[in-house]
Amino acid sequence: MTNAHTTNVHAGAESNPLIPIPAVAEGHAYQHIVVEQYAGACGAIISGIDLAQPLPDVAVAEIRRAILDHLVVFFRDQSLSPEQQVEFSHRFGPYNHVPFIEPVAGHPEVIAVAREPQETQGFAFGSLWHSDFSFLPEPPMGSILHAIEVPPYGADTLWSNQYLAFSTLSPGLQQTLRTLRGIHSATNAYSKKMQGIHDSFAGMRVQTSDTANEVIEHPLVRIHAETGRPALYADQQYTIGIAGWANHEAKQLLDYLYQHSVQPAFTCRWQWKVGDVAFWDNRCLQHMAMADVSGHRRLLHRTTVAGERPLGS
Ligand code: SIN
Repeated sequence: MTNAHTTNVHAGAESNPLIPIPAVAEGHAYQHIVVEQYAGACGAIISGIDLAQPLPDVAVAEIRRAILDHLVVFFRDQSLSPEQQVEFSHRFGPYNHVPFIEPVAGHPEVIAVAREPQETQGFAFGSLWHSDFSFLPEPPMGSILHAIEVPPYGADTLWSNQYLAFSTLSPGLQQTLRTLRGIHSATNAYSKKMQGIHDSFAGMRVQTSDTANEVIEHPLVRIHAETGRPALYADQQYTIGIAGWANHEAKQLLDYLYQHSVQPAFTCRWQWKVGDVAFWDNRCLQHMAMADVSGHRRLLHRTTVAGERPLGS
């Protein structure tokens, strides 16, 4: 685990309120939380803190430090009302507007990631590997899931470390990827052709729209705004092409990257218990929900923390 002082690596990042928070002194040992590594590739469990209570700034800084080091952190035995989850989320940055998905009634910043018992196995909300809302000009820095009701087994969530996905490629391919921009779009998730699929998710209300067909370019190799480390930034759900390449050409390379970037050695997998909270960094992770169980209800509340425009090198 590194404890290096965090620095801004992008000029202009000073205007983003997310950036300066997590710096802690060199050689810092955690004072307010206990951090235990959970898996080899990413993930840590944080204990010794009640997220429903007002958190001192130093505790927030330590949680951010742990997220930068471990990419995704887990808290057990928490009990957060939607208001408390929003308050916790705001400690890490402003709300990131969530398009297409209807929020929890009375809580515009919270969405319910819900599956009803009658839904069939095989496909569910979030069950393709993705980085949240990468089709936005400024995709969310982080996402926070809080487990309200979970099945007795299955429906785990997996995360994959995209720093590792990049660093394990050959220098030649790394160099080529640094010159390329991925084309991202919500078309395969939220365009009108997808309304039927969303209607089959009994627990969630999704309003598809033609605006989902819009496209945006982001660097295929994203330099993390806080750590300065390069991460692969392409996912199966939202990356639909490569700028300047024919579709059939882009498909070959992207298919390889999708397969490479989520191999088991890069991942961690979390089996949910009621009260768990997961907080992850979308800038250097992909994640997916396992759609491997039916006959049980699953309800998690999700908030999202705003992020910055992805920059390359
Ligand atoms: C998501 O945020 O993509 C959903 C993850 C999950 O339901 O496990």
